[in-house]
Amino acid sequence: MSETTAGCPVAFLTGASAGTGTEIARALAAEGYAVAVLGRRRDALDALAAELREGGAPALVLEADVRDAVALENALDAFLGWSGGRVDVVVNAAGTTGPLSPPIGGFDVVAFDDVIATNLRAPFIVLSRLLPVMRAARSGRIVNIGGNHGMRGRAGRSSYSASKWGLRGLTRSAALEAGPDNVTVNYVAPGPVAVPRMKAAWRANADRDGIGEEEALARYVANMGIPLGRPSEPADVVAQVMFLIGPGGRNITGQEIVVDGGATL
Ligand SMILES: NC(=O)c1ccc[n+]([C@@H]2O[C@H](COP(=O)([O-])OP(=O)(O)OC[C@H]3O[C@@H](n4cnc5c(N)ncnc54)[C@H](OP(=O)(O)O)[C@@H]3O)[C@@H](O)[C@H]2O)c1
Repeated sequence: MSETTAGCPVAFLTGASAGTGTEIARALAAEGYAVAVLGRRRDALDALAAELREGGAPALVLEADVRDAVALENALDAFLGWSGGRVDVVVNAAGTTGPLSPPIGGFDVVAFDDVIATNLRAPFIVLSRLLPVMRAARSGRIVNIGGNHGMRGRAGRSSYSASKWGLRGLTRSAALEAGPDNVTVNYVAPGPVAVPRMKAAWRANADRDGIGEEEALARYVANMGIPLGRPSEPADVVAQVMFLIGPGGRNITGQEIVVDGGATL
């Protein structure tokens, strides 16, 4: 915690303790960023931060549940203390799917609120604290990780889809507000990504159906209607984030990049 950012560009990242977020943290550190990593799982965050520091990147662990506004605001204050008020990049990657299959009427408002709080309200809280800092500095890049269910509806995923659609509106509105101050705000929309959580689900499908994992994955891909015939790898998503925060993203704002093998075509 006492480590400083040592003059490095500084990134704030939620959802760093697992999946795509972990890979984004690694990519940011490899690009020379000091990285603040936020999540609930302290052990995973500590291990990641140790790895980043081992590679020479300053790292700060922020343990918080993003549904808890006060905890998130305290984490944001701690982040700004650590960074000396500097923030170059923000990536909102924390996300939850919520109820996986019940139709509307089959789950309650508490479950709905939970998804909205994680996927939409938390990025709003993060932007509320950090966007004014970036605007005052007249520099910064923000990437919100949405999902391709923010580009279409899906039966049985109403809360998730609504949250990711909402995040697009937040992204575009923030882009309009912050553009004059040279801050970009964009949205990366993955389809299925082969993170450990998804791989476990595909393995469970294979066990349930008494088939091999390859066959289970093939059925999943067919069911999802993915023209390229494969899920994304975390690196496919990371590449878009790094593009948007790099030189190529200088004049891109308020946009959505869909990384789903063509599933939403
Ligand atoms: N994987 C996919 O197929 C897929 C598809 C479309 C969109 N996405 C989106 O991509 C992003 C990353 O997903 P992923 O599948 O790579 O990650 P994941 O393996 O599902 O991990 C989710 C991450 O979000 C964090 N998180 C969730 N709820 C949180 C909470 N209440 N407070 C703090 N942190 C919380 C988790 O940290 P803790 O558990 O430590 O709190 C973890 O770091 C998400 O926004 C997701 O919606 C993923």
